[in-house]
Amino acid sequence: MRTFLVTGGAGFIGSHVCLMLLQNKCSLYILDSFTNSFPESLDRVKLISRLDEKYDNDKISIFEGDLRDKNSIKKVFYDAKNKGKNIDGVIHLAGFKSVSQSIINPLSYWENNVISTINLLEVMDENNCYTIVFSSSASIYDTTSKFIDENATLRAKHPYAETKIAIEQLLKDVYNSNCNKWRVANLRYFNPIGAHISGLIGEDPLGIPNNIFPRIIKVASREIDKLTIFGNDYPTSDGSGVRDFIHVMDLAEGHLSALDFLMEGQPKLFSINLGTGKGTSVLELIEIFEKINNVEIPYIFSKRRDGDASEVVADNSLAINLINFCAKRSLSEMCRDGWQWYLKNPEGYRKN
Ligand code: UD1
Repeated sequence: MRTFLVTGGAGFIGSHVCLMLLQNKCSLYILDSFTNSFPESLDRVKLISRLDEKYDNDKISIFEGDLRDKNSIKKVFYDAKNKGKNIDGVIHLAGFKSVSQSIINPLSYWENNVISTINLLEVMDENNCYTIVFSSSASIYDTTSKFIDENATLRAKHPYAETKIAIEQLLKDVYNSNCNKWRVANLRYFNPIGAHISGLIGEDPLGIPNNIFPRIIKVASREIDKLTIFGNDYPTSDGSGVRDFIHVMDLAEGHLSALDFLMEGQPKLFSINLGTGKGTSVLELIEIFEKINNVEIPYIFSKRRDGDASEVVADNSLAINLINFCAKRSLSEMCRDGWQWYLKNPEGYRKN
């Protein structure tokens, strides 16, 4: 059985990745500071995997800790060693992710995202662990073309994306320092939405969300009167922005495909888009959400949001050809599962 450390495993993407790994017979260490997530999400992950797979608790070891403190990472490797386990690789998801906060507070973003990764790589090296899957983002691309492939120019528009580019560069340097040793995968996420079909885990943003899907949920639940759509004059089919929305469980499966490819054969470094390859406009997303969930999403238009691109869609051919990954779930499923998560947990993980 393979053992992985998942940093940031309690978050939205992390909890779905952990579930996917458990369902595929992996054993997990999870390191999370719980500053932007809830331990409850991992209880739910255990619940789902036990229901599905009869897993026992010792398949998951949870550590609370901040990666800026190297000792918190060392403790995990130490525990594994003491139990005679070997950590085969790390899925590194921990990090700050708000674009607007990164502009207000760049130092905390560089510290939390970049310094933490340096600490992680040092501790991995000390423990002869050389396999890492990094959670990167499509926001690192210069979005001048409609379909974006992995060779597109990188250009950050805010400190959040700067830190993602810096970490990819750091990983490249580390890989080049000994390319017979390190195995590195950068996964460039497009727009993950939805939730696990059980409605037990999902996205629970702290504060007011900026992203479209959690905002649609807030309007559907009448916490917000109307959705503000940023721009109706883009050169798209209906004038609203177009994005590549991917079901979070498909995204989680993408991690598994990347890990399988990364761990077979020779050491390697690769960067890969995790998207569906299909663009959907904001207006189309609203329409699908309304139809599948039988709710109304009132909206108004306002001017374009600074820094937004017209269309951001993955060229997913490398994911298909290299790691044999292709997203399966439809937009209706994304909208249905995301809404079910809300209906079952209107307060998120907080009051259940
Ligand atoms: C945003 C970030 C990106 C980050 C990603 C995932 C910016 C400029 N980009 O990408 O760096 O990696 O989230 O966290 O912030 N929209 C509305 N009304 C809303 C919210 C969004 O119309 O209330 C529109 C946007 O204008 C855009 C689309 O919905 O056309 C998607 O927006 P969003 O969910 O914020 O994702 P991205 O812009 O792709």
